[in-house]
Amino acid sequence: MEHDPQYTIELGDARVRLRPWNHADADALVDAVRDSVDSVGRWLPWCRADYGHDAAHAWIARCQDGWQAGNHFAFAVRSAADGSLLGGVGLNQFEPIHRRANLGYWMRQACQRRGLATAAAQHVARFGFEQLGLIRIEIVALPDNAASRATALRIGARFESIARQRLLVEGQPRDAAVYGLLRSDLP
Ligand SMILES: CC(C)(COP(=O)(O)OP(=O)(O)OC[C@H]1O[C@@H](n2cnc3c(N)ncnc32)[C@H](O)[C@@H]1OP(=O)(O)O)[C@@H](O)C(=O)NCCC(=O)NCCS
Repeated sequence: MEHDPQYTIELGDARVRLRPWNHADADALVDAVRDSVDSVGRWLPWCRADYGHDAAHAWIARCQDGWQAGNHFAFAVRSAADGSLLGGVGLNQFEPIHRRANLGYWMRQACQRRGLATAAAQHVARFGFEQLGLIRIEIVALPDNAASRATALRIGARFESIARQRLLVEGQPRDAAVYGLLRSDLP
């Protein structure tokens, strides 16, 4: 499969539409990030009120490099109804020897708790299993990140462990909840 940044892949359903990040998404990304500082910024340090166009374009360029290199597959999630940007979901931290990757997600604050992260993440996970040949997908969340943990379960992943010092957060090693998702776990 060609992992070209212009690759015209589109995933989705009646509610969400997912495409690889494109520089045309930058304005909407800046708005969505700035609107989500309270809930997303609490867990993801790049989500700050001063997030600007340089940061957005740098992120999108990184995503396009990731598609080209075949080691990071990040999607912009948009509303199928009106095209507005809802958030982002991606597969990263590829471990090719074991065909494993990490699944990450964030949802714009005003659009949370509608099942949209679950739907979008399931599309990306299915893409990972079916198109990338992954065997296992991991979701790793801080133990007190209730929304992320509930989302992992709702996607179909199983809680496996609290892994000691699994994440480095602001320079501090932190224990984290690890969830494992297999193809057969998806609905
Ligand atoms: C995690 C996140 C993407 C969930 O997005 P969402 O669109 O609200 O998720 P969904 O609507 O699909 O809900 C999935 C589950 O999470 C639960 N949930 C969502 N927000 C929650 C919250 N704030 N507290 C507790 N549970 C929550 C939902 O109730 C649902 O569980 P249920 O079906 O058992 O009731 C969103 O909260 C977010 O962007 N968080 C900040 C970024 C982040 O932490 N990313 C993960 C890093 S590991």
